[in-house]
Amino acid sequence: MKNITVIGSGTMGNGIAHTFAQNGFNVSLVDISDAALQKALQTIAGNLDRQIKKGAIDDAAKTTTLSNIKTYTDVSEGAANADLVVEAATENKEIKLKLFKQLSEVCQPRVILASNTSSISITEIAATTSNPSNVIGMHFMNPVPVMKLVEVIRGYATTNEVTNTIMELSRQLGKDPVEVNDYPGFVANRILMPMINEAIYTVFEGVAGVHEIDTVMKLGMAHPMGPLQLADFIGLDVCLAILKVLHNGFGNPKYAPCPLLVNMVMAGHLGVKSGSGFYKYTAGSKDLVVADKFA
Ligand code: CAA
Repeated sequence: MKNITVIGSGTMGNGIAHTFAQNGFNVSLVDISDAALQKALQTIAGNLDRQIKKGAIDDAAKTTTLSNIKTYTDVSEGAANADLVVEAATENKEIKLKLFKQLSEVCQPRVILASNTSSISITEIAATTSNPSNVIGMHFMNPVPVMKLVEVIRGYATTNEVTNTIMELSRQLGKDPVEVNDYPGFVANRILMPMINEAIYTVFEGVAGVHEIDTVMKLGMAHPMGPLQLADFIGLDVCLAILKVLHNGFGNPKYAPCPLLVNMVMAGHLGVKSGSGFYKYTAGSKDLVVADKFA
C-alpha cells in the first residue's frame, strides 16, 4: 500500500495527510476548493515547523513530507490511483453517503475505503458501495500527528483481511490501533461525549464556573484539557452532531444534548474555530480566557 487519497483538508484531513506523508506514503489530498487546499498545506507546513522546533524532525523531513502531498479539487482524479481512500469530509451523513457512492464508482473494487467519521455508522456508509466488505472506519484523534490512537471500526460486512490491513497500516504510521465494532459513537465518543455533555450541564445548572469545572478535571483526573476546553477544541457543532447520533441510535434520554450546547451552536459560538465557545480565542494568543457569557 503506497498511494493514499485523503478526502477533506480540514483539521482532521490535513492531519491525516501530514501523518501519511511524513511516513513515506504518496498522498493525494482532495477538497472542493483550491483555497482550502492551499490553507491545508500552510497548516501542515506550520505543524512540521513545530516538530522541527521540538527537534522531532529535521528540515529535510519537512521538504520530503510536503513533496509527498499532491492536491486535487476533483474526487475522481484524486482517487484514480489510490490503494486506500481515507474520507475526512464534513461530519454530515448525506455528504458521506454521496461521497462513498461516488468513490465506489471511481475506484477499483480492491481499494479499501475508510472513513474518519467520529460517529456515523460504517455499516450504513458501506451499504452505498458495491463492495461493503472493503469499507472500514479509521478514526484518528486531533491533533492527528500527535495522538497515538486510531480507532479501527469494523462495519457489519468488513472482512478480517481488511481489518488486519488497516491495523497494520496504522502501526506503520506509529499509531496504536484499537479494533471496535460498529455501534453508535463506537467506543471513543460513546464515552467522551457523555462526559462533555455532563460538563456542559454542570455549567448550565450553575454548579460551578467554566474554569472551575475544567480545573477539577485537569488537576483531579490528570486530563490534558478540561472537558469544556476539549469541547471547544473539537468544535461544539461536532459535539452536538455526535450526541444526536448517540441519542437517536440508542433512543436513551441520557444522551440528549444539553440545551445550552444546542443554543451555543445555534448562536454560532462553536469553540476555537469560531473564536468563541466556553472560552474566547484571539489569534496568536495562548491564554485561556473564559468567554464573556460565562465570566
Ligand atoms: N501537529 C504536530 N505537532 C503538534 C500539533 C500538531 N497539530 N499540535 C501539538 N503538537 C505537538 C507539540 O509540538 C508538542 O510536541 P512535544 O510533545 O514534542 O513537545 C506537543 O504536541 C504538545 O503540544 P503543546 O506543548 O503546544 O501543547 P500541550 O502540551 O498543551 O498539548 C495537546 C496539546 C496535545 C492538544 C494536549 O492538550 C492534548 O492532548 N489535549 C487533548 C487532545 C484530545 O483529547 N484529543 C482527542 C479529541 S477527540 C477527537 O479528536 C475525535 C473525535 O471524534 C471528537
